[in-house]
Amino acid sequence: MQVTELTHPLIEHKLAILRDEKTGTKEFRELVSEIAMFLCYEAMKDITLEEVEIKTPIEVMKTKKLDESRYIFVPILRAGMGMLDGVIKVIPNAKIGHIGMYRNEETFEPVEYFFKVPKGVEEKEVFLLDPMLATGGSAVDAIESLKAKGVKKINFLCIIAAPEGIEVVTKKHPEVPIFCAHIDRELNENKYICPGLGDAGDRIYGTK
Ligand code: PRP
Ligand code: URA
Repeated sequence: MQVTELTHPLIEHKLAILRDEKTGTKEFRELVSEIAMFLCYEAMKDITLEEVEIKTPIEVMKTKKLDESRYIFVPILRAGMGMLDGVIKVIPNAKIGHIGMYRNEETFEPVEYFFKVPKGVEEKEVFLLDPMLATGGSAVDAIESLKAKGVKKINFLCIIAAPEGIEVVTKKHPEVPIFCAHIDRELNENKYICPGLGDAGDRIYGTK
């Protein structure tokens, strides 16, 4: 299984504040964005750099740089948008796509309502963003929609993952690496992650 969990005391600290029901919208948004930034660092640790020559104020040197245009961030609406600020701090020139998807509250099945990705997406590496991986239905469908557009390299970045969702995604799309800040215990009867953080979209947008 290609699953990476961020294990760092600062991430645990930030997650504790994020999960707390007393944490308000402003701080919740800031933490989602900040944790997403750390996830992005981790997810990019094996990327290939290009050799370049630069001139420091002292001398010319050979070094390496990233071709930022090779990367596309795709948040799953709504909650995935909360991660975008953080990841574009890391790769400010990345292109951005959007997949609109919500989970039917009775069947728990995902419903796609919007799909727009940059031209040439099939040649790029995609980082799919969604803070919550619960049953895995939304992630699986979003990955399938990207593959149908010809995307070959996809990574999935989430903040909290349920073991059930990890299993579903890795079974259907074993080549897609998953990066999460924490793997939680289980899903409850309403398919919410336990202990989780509640409804990520509602907490980001203050809708409940
Ligand atoms: C949440 C979350 C994921 C999905 C995860 O979105 O942001 O997209 O549920 O659940 P799954 O793994 O069982 O598919 P939600 O449907 O609440 O929509 P929202 O982002 O608009 O709040
Ligand atoms: N979506 C959320 O926002 N939270 C969960 O726990 C499960 C799905």
